[in-house]
Amino acid sequence: MIIISSSGEMQAQAIQLRQKSMRIGLVPTMGFLHDGHMSLVRIARKMSDIVVLSSFVNPTQFGPAEDFNKYPRNEGQDDRLCELEGVDIVFRPSAGEMYAKDHSVYVEEMDLSSGLCGQSRPGHFRGVTTIVAKLFNIVLPQIAVFGRKDAQQARVIEQLVRDLNFPIKIVLGQIIREPDGLAMSSRNSYLSANERERAVGVYKSLCIAADLYRNGVSDTATISNRIRSSLEKECRPDSIDYIDIVDYMTLKKVDKITIKSLIAVAVRIGHTRLIDNVVLPSEDNQY
Ligand code: PAF
Repeated sequence: MIIISSSGEMQAQAIQLRQKSMRIGLVPTMGFLHDGHMSLVRIARKMSDIVVLSSFVNPTQFGPAEDFNKYPRNEGQDDRLCELEGVDIVFRPSAGEMYAKDHSVYVEEMDLSSGLCGQSRPGHFRGVTTIVAKLFNIVLPQIAVFGRKDAQQARVIEQLVRDLNFPIKIVLGQIIREPDGLAMSSRNSYLSANERERAVGVYKSLCIAADLYRNGVSDTATISNRIRSSLEKECRPDSIDYIDIVDYMTLKKVDKITIKSLIAVAVRIGHTRLIDNVVLPSEDNQY
């Protein structure tokens, strides 16, 4: 496994690999890797000859009051996990490497980004689409793998690829959960023991929603109310950013679950913001 920090060197390697007809699979991350990330690496491993994992805490996707400075980092542990999983290249650029002092070009998705996390995190998706477009141009992958926990991000990136004609196949990996159901996230490391116990309530509320749907309830107002009361009881969140039920493709709110719908929640427990979701009808009976 090699570690590259220069974008020029990464791009030169990628060009050489493609000249040798190698299929490059990219797993973009912000580091502090966990099994959720590694499941994406496993998908990339199966579908490509060379797996590149990028590790970059992207400043432009954090708001001024957000956790950029305290975002967890552990490069040694990340490298060990990548070695074990057979990653070929870790691309870990510095902020200066990715953003010149006079950087002035951004990529912005104008529709799917506006609701859900876009409401409470203005500018977040502009930062995501900008860095992902840069990574695509530097790593030159044929395949890029993203997680379904960030369901809105996944849709925004699918749209980025379609609308800007990137010749890249986007593959989405399932949400990977802790044994008690909490969706794996680097931000879980912020939770105190008490907050960690409460955090599992996010998953429980989604299970209640899935059960209601399975028992014939498709009215989204009823399902949202049940999610809210479950969150308040089990999770005791400091705030609820949103509980939204939207069409999976358009991310627009729906009154009834008739076609593939995304039930997404975002809560704050202490200083930690957690997101999770379920897609109904469920394709894999995960719930
Ligand atoms: O999902 C993430 O970890 C980040 O948003 C991403 C896609 C690596 C862009 O910085």
